[in-house]
Amino acid sequence: MYETLAKRSGRFAVLAGCPLRISSFGILRVRWVMLMRSRARDVPRLCTALPGPRAAAILKIDRQFTSPSYTRMYPLVAARGAGAMIEDVDGNRFLDFTAGIAVCSTGHCHPRVVEAVQRQAAQLMHMSGTDFYYAPQALLAQKLAEIAPGPTPKRVFFTNSGAESVEAAFKLARYYTRRPHMIAFFGGFHGRTLGALSLTSSRAVQRRGFAPLLPHVSHVEYPNPYHFPGDAEACWQASLTQIENLFARTVPPEEVAAFVVEPIQGEGGYVVPPLEFHRRLKALAEQHEILYIADEVQSGMGRTGRMFASEHFGVEPDILCTAKGIASGLPLGAIIAKSDIMTWPPGSHASTFGGNPVACVAAMETIGLLQEELLANASHTGDYLQTCLRELQNRHATIGDVRGLGLMVGMELVHDRQTKEPAADLCSKLIDQCFHRGLLLLSCGKSTIRFCPPLVIDEDDVDTAVEIIDQVLSELEPNEVRK
Ligand SMILES: Cc1ncc(COP(=O)(O)O)c(C=O)c1O
Repeated sequence: MYETLAKRSGRFAVLAGCPLRISSFGILRVRWVMLMRSRARDVPRLCTALPGPRAAAILKIDRQFTSPSYTRMYPLVAARGAGAMIEDVDGNRFLDFTAGIAVCSTGHCHPRVVEAVQRQAAQLMHMSGTDFYYAPQALLAQKLAEIAPGPTPKRVFFTNSGAESVEAAFKLARYYTRRPHMIAFFGGFHGRTLGALSLTSSRAVQRRGFAPLLPHVSHVEYPNPYHFPGDAEACWQASLTQIENLFARTVPPEEVAAFVVEPIQGEGGYVVPPLEFHRRLKALAEQHEILYIADEVQSGMGRTGRMFASEHFGVEPDILCTAKGIASGLPLGAIIAKSDIMTWPPGSHASTFGGNPVACVAAMETIGLLQEELLANASHTGDYLQTCLRELQNRHATIGDVRGLGLMVGMELVHDRQTKEPAADLCSKLIDQCFHRGLLLLSCGKSTIRFCPPLVIDEDDVDTAVEIIDQVLSELEPNEVRK
């Protein structure tokens, strides 16, 4: 794959953070391939205790001056990245299975994305699509409208983040339907601005102290096949029954603007619902002229092996929210809505920075790379990752469940496979110990390891990651398994 990536790179490249001007395509190709091969041999590579001295100095400043609300799990101080490798300020190299929380879809500093960004930055960095026109924004809107699921014509509104995309979807749904109510799902994460936070319900700490949130938002259970005590049909049916109960008792359906749902729950635990769930939810929405909003901020942009996870479920959302992986690390988000729904008039909603030209060209290049090879790689390598994790599950009693689509994979840790009691401490310790062996991981839900690596990883990377996890679990488990 890296040879193919190298083949497509242009005259400028940034490899491991160092801009290289190259005179011939051949030299670039050789350097990129060499870098990637050396990365394969050289990652993880730890040369100091963690944190190292330079990292410790940065941590000291950070801990004094940045907000204490951030949730850092381990003291990684990143200096540069290439592909799935992150090097810290002390020269330690880590294998990155986080992609900066599912953002660096094309890998860190992909040369084609870097080149597009550098070219655009030298030409026009900002003009504001709110008041002016420029080609990158119009062309990206056209591209997103083309690649969104379903045949209905679409329009695009640009934002700077996932939360802003959800805010925009929330407002558009209210504007279009003139209805006040929203129905979302427990365990859902939709962002932290007040409108988005009113929909978010994954952890109380995210809401504690911020009331009052928006009124007219209700939640029902998200279908979680691993924890539901019945078959797949009963599982999705239970969630729909809860919505019907709301309709009958507290939330008249003709007053509901939208259902807001993640196709696969992210922060809530990488929960893949039964295949039938989204089709049934969409049918219920249509029955009552309620909009179906898919929050694909985490599941979108190729992560599941399709451009959008909604495609796996055969559903065309009325409004789709995206962000994170859309621009390989530049801040950009968007909502893609059916054209006959996005009818709000000039001045009703806008954003100074949303759809910035540099971020837009990064997104165009990202989508090109996804379509050319990374969707297929996410699918293939994701299947391989799940196969390896299932083999691991045969040897480790604390692995309760392995699930996912493409490279959106969760591994839930439990104290006991019968009771499925979450092993939250084990999850934190595993992540910490993996960091100390050069593997970057994140958690989600109560005790789930979240695998959301850059979509450029290969089977060797998976083997390396799984081997580290295997070793760490073998060391931790004797103290953790409850007989
Ligand atoms: C599904 C989903 N929606 C919205 C958001 C909020 O995105 P941001 O942090 O960019 O505001 C997230 C972030 O994790 C997310 O996973």
